[in-house]
Order: sequence, then C-alpha cells, then structure tokens
Amino acid sequence: MPVDVHAEVLSNTRLSADYNVLALAAPEIASEARPGQFVMIKTRLGFEPLLRRPFSIFEILRDAQGAPTGLTILNKRIGVGTGQLFDLAAGDRVDVLGPLGRPFTLAPPSTEAWLVAGGVGLAPFATMAEALLPLGVKTTLFYGARRAQDLYYADWFAARGVTVVTSTEDGSAGDRGFVTAPLARAFDALGRRRLADAPGEDGRSQPARAAGGSAAAPVALYVCGPTPMMRAVSDLAEQHGCDAEVSLEQTMGCGQGGCYSCVVRVRGEGRTPHFVRSCVNGPVFRGRDIVWEELAH
Ligand SMILES: Cc1cc2nc3c(=O)[nH]c(=O)nc-3n(C[C@H](O)[C@H](O)[C@H](O)COP(=O)(O)OP(=O)(O)OC[C@H]3O[C@@H](n4cnc5c(N)ncnc54)[C@H](O)[C@@H]3O)c2cc1C
Ligand code: FES
Repeated sequence: MPVDVHAEVLSNTRLSADYNVLALAAPEIASEARPGQFVMIKTRLGFEPLLRRPFSIFEILRDAQGAPTGLTILNKRIGVGTGQLFDLAAGDRVDVLGPLGRPFTLAPPSTEAWLVAGGVGLAPFATMAEALLPLGVKTTLFYGARRAQDLYYADWFAARGVTVVTSTEDGSAGDRGFVTAPLARAFDALGRRRLADAPGEDGRSQPARAAGGSAAAPVALYVCGPTPMMRAVSDLAEQHGCDAEVSLEQTMGCGQGGCYSCVVRVRGEGRTPHFVRSCVNGPVFRGRDIVWEELAH
C-alpha cells in the first residue's frame, strides 16, 4: 500500500545548473519500494502547482545496519515543480506519496541485463542495478546524454560492478550520437557469440542464422528516456528477438488511477489496442505492447 509521508529533506546535492539529487527521509516508502516504482511529490505547499509531480525512486538510503531510512530522486529542472525541488534546502519538508506503479521484472541469473538510459532516464536504474547484481545477473548500462558533463553517476554504477557504455550527442564522451549506436553494436556482437555457440545439422556453426540476426538472445532490456529513444530501443530489441521493458514518463495528475491523465494505448496478447492508465498499469510496460505512434512526446 502506498503511504503519504511529510518527508524531511536530508540534503540537496546540485549536480549542475539543471540537475540535483534530493535525499528525503521516508523509511516507510523506502522499505516497500521496488525497482521502477515512483513517488508523487507535492513540490510546495499551496496551489502553485496544484498537483503533485511523479518521480522515479533513484536510490534507497540505508542506516549502518542496512535498514531503509529514505530515498533520493534525481531531479531535472524543466518547469515550476521541478524548479521548486531544485531550490529546496536541508530541513525543508515535502509530501511524498508512494511507492506507486508497476515495477520492472527482474531478469533471472542466467540472463544478461542491459539497462538503457537517456538523460534523466537514468533515475530508475540505480535501484535496478542494486537488485540485479546480488542475483548474479551480468549488468550493462548504456547511458546517453547530450554531453559529457550530463553523464551523472557513471562512476557509481561502475563501482558496483556494472559495465558502463556511454554516448554523447556532441561526442565529448563515448560514442558520438545516440545510445542506440553502441547498443546496435552490442546486439551484433551477441549475434556473433550465439552463432559461434550454435551447432548446425552437421555439428558446425550456422552463418545463415547470424545473417538473419533474429535468434532469441539471452538478454533482458530495460529502457527509460525520451520517447523516441525508447521506441527505437524497443524496435531494436524486437528485431533481435528480445523483450524490452520501457518506463514511460506520461504526464500524471494523481498517480493513483483516478484522473485518466496518463492513458496510453497498448496491445495485449492477441487483442486489439486499448487504453490503460500508465500510473497503475505502468509506468513499466513491455515495449512491443505500446502503440508508439500515438505517444505525444
Ligand atoms: C513515472 C514517472 C517518473 C518520472 N521520473 C522522473 C525523475 O526521476 N526525474 C525527473 O526529473 N523527472 C521525472 N519525471 C518527469 C517529471 O515528472 C516532470 O518533469 C515533471 O512533472 C514536470 O513538472 P514541472 O512542474 O517542473 O513542469 P511544468 O511546469 O508542469 O511543465 C514544464 C514543461 O514540461 C512539460 N512536461 C511536464 N511533464 C512532462 C513529462 N512527464 N514529460 C515531458 N514533458 C513534460 C510541460 O508540457 C511543459 O512544457 C517522471 C515522470 C513520470 C511519469
Ligand atoms: S495519473 Fe491519474 S489516472 Fe494515472
């Protein structure tokens, strides 16, 4: 059950002119939260803005004994509410409701996990990495941003054993261009590895299979970022026979299923497309189920 906490701001770490990490004392939410879930935050008392804003749970804070004490959010300032969160100081309080939404499905240990993040889409992946690594899941983060300065927390992931592959639009770190470029290379390499492993009828490998590139790969993808990026990654995964889970960032009025501001069209198994509320049926969906062409951004 989600709980509403009048949470104290423990710290506000400004990473740049637009990004900050807000640490909030909310043990009740932190102890129930699962990777991919979110909270609704009233960014300020009063009516401006009237509605709460949704944020992925970024990190779980723990005491010396490992008990959850709070959570952080990775905030990108784009408007009124996110601007208010950027300006908060230690000791301030905000109302935080959560945990909310459907979490990611954890990959089994025999599977590799590829986390694909664009910009502030990194937010759901710290808790995801911390859930996957103890299971023995080999985890890679494909992390794209506009420029090197916007690649936050890459060292945090690397220090925990995640392989980090970066790309930037201006080429100042990693691949120049979008995160889909190194990802496409990784799929090609995976296809070659599988080809080398797979015996043909004559007991030898099968080049024809690799040329098609459609063999199912033991990789689970998890994606969060701008909608065009999530769509491109979802398509790429499908072409290679993989499922991708995407975390949508639809505008949300209530976060609890009451206002229908967050609806998105999905295709279920063998069913015609239908609308669902992304706050309760998501924000995590199977990429291949989304009717992408109808998403606004
Ligand atoms: C499940 C979920 C998790 C999220 N996690 C994070 C997170 O971890 N960190 C983070 O910084 N943000 C996250 N967001 C996005 C965040 O909720 C919005 O940026 C925020 O609500 C904007 O509020 P605002 O008052 O600052 O903007 P407003 O002043 O209301 O709007 C400013 C501009 O941004 C546009 N806008 C508002 N919301 C969105 C949106 N969801 N997508 C695209 N454009 C939008 C508006 O149309 C307007 O043009 C998440 C969203 C969802 C649904
Ligand atoms: S945000 Fe209100 S129904 Fe989803």
